[in-house]
Amino acid sequence: MKTLIKSARIIDPSQDIDLIGNILIENGTVSAYLSDTAKTEKERGIKVIDAKGRIVAPGFVDMHVHLREPGFEYKETIKTGCEAAAAGGFTSLVCMPNTNPVNDNASVTEYILLKARTEGIVNVFPVGAVTKGSMGSSLAEIGEMFEAGCVGITDDGLPVMNSKVMRHAMEYVRAFGIPVISHAEDRNLSGNGVMNEGFISNRLGLRGIPNASEEVIVARDITLAELTGAHLHIAHVSTAGSVRLIREAKIRGIRVTCEVTPHHFTLTDQAVLNYDTNAKVNPPIRTGKDIEEIREGLKDGTIDVIATDHAPHSEDEKKVEFDLAPFGISGLETGLSLSLSLVKEGILSLPELIRKLTFNPSRIVRINRGTLKVGAVADVVIFDPEKLITVDRMKFRSKGKNSPFHGWKLNGEVTHTIVGGKIVYSR
Ligand code: DOR
Repeated sequence: MKTLIKSARIIDPSQDIDLIGNILIENGTVSAYLSDTAKTEKERGIKVIDAKGRIVAPGFVDMHVHLREPGFEYKETIKTGCEAAAAGGFTSLVCMPNTNPVNDNASVTEYILLKARTEGIVNVFPVGAVTKGSMGSSLAEIGEMFEAGCVGITDDGLPVMNSKVMRHAMEYVRAFGIPVISHAEDRNLSGNGVMNEGFISNRLGLRGIPNASEEVIVARDITLAELTGAHLHIAHVSTAGSVRLIREAKIRGIRVTCEVTPHHFTLTDQAVLNYDTNAKVNPPIRTGKDIEEIREGLKDGTIDVIATDHAPHSEDEKKVEFDLAPFGISGLETGLSLSLSLVKEGILSLPELIRKLTFNPSRIVRINRGTLKVGAVADVVIFDPEKLITVDRMKFRSKGKNSPFHGWKLNGEVTHTIVGGKIVYSR
């Protein structure tokens, strides 16, 4: 099976490519860049996609998603999560271990991979837990999970509160070269907080989570990464102080990378003024000052990756008082459009944005994706960056309709998602 994508603007940061051209996909891989397509187009059985005016890039890699399976299939399954990913232009997902059971041993990892192979239309790369049951006390079966295919470890959803346990985890993973992904939150400081601590939480009478709750653990984990030499990746950075700590650590040569979510660079805590539980997320949506520093961090390279932290929940769970609703935003199907706003506002160039959605996350979790080099697996996205869309959460492929962006008018629409040479989504 051959597919020719012609007349597209091809952007591949892994090769520093930004050109108008034609890509030929053959037997599941990128086989050639053609200058003249006339002859190829006439070949029998070839699928031709005229992508004039659109962008062709490596399929996006979302290094932070919750696929909920096993255990919470009413929120999402690997199948529906992958369908949502394909609709959002993501061809690879890195899934968090806070399932039931927790992915803290090889049998759970193997189950996820088997399900992904049989039911998933995009690539799935599991992350294992740091501690057994993500309970924070004793290390999980990290070596076995690595052998089974885990590309990192984290207790995401929860921090590893015990610094000694975190130190040992970092020492342990050095042998495997995979990152420790930190959900940076001091649970004692965040307490029973449900939103950002500040003027708005006071006004609403809701318990707040201070910026320091995140920054204390970012500082601790940077210190431990310096001590151990491990690769530390900070998940969902939400505060100005975290960006400054990571910037300084990078300057000092510490092995630290980090990600930000579209909701954290788009929304302020004003989003919860009407008690919208769809904007309840952990870490919480912060303030304009935090967004400013996050955008600076995106610009100067402190922030390596944009990841959605796709956290689907059921409608019933979110339709309760703000205090009781679970944290999380369904993010896979709005990730690209929200990110394209950064280009529109002059914060990132389109190639810089695509790098943070493709090459950078692939490198951090060491998967062989995020590139359109000749010979690479043909994971490709085609999108129209200008197309005006209206977010309709009820049309999400994801079971999680929990989006605070419902009704927003944004630019950017995925027209094709290709995984291993196969078109898995088109519109
Ligand atoms: O908002 C969040 N939802 N933050 C997390 O850390 C966990 C996630 C979830 O699993 O729902």
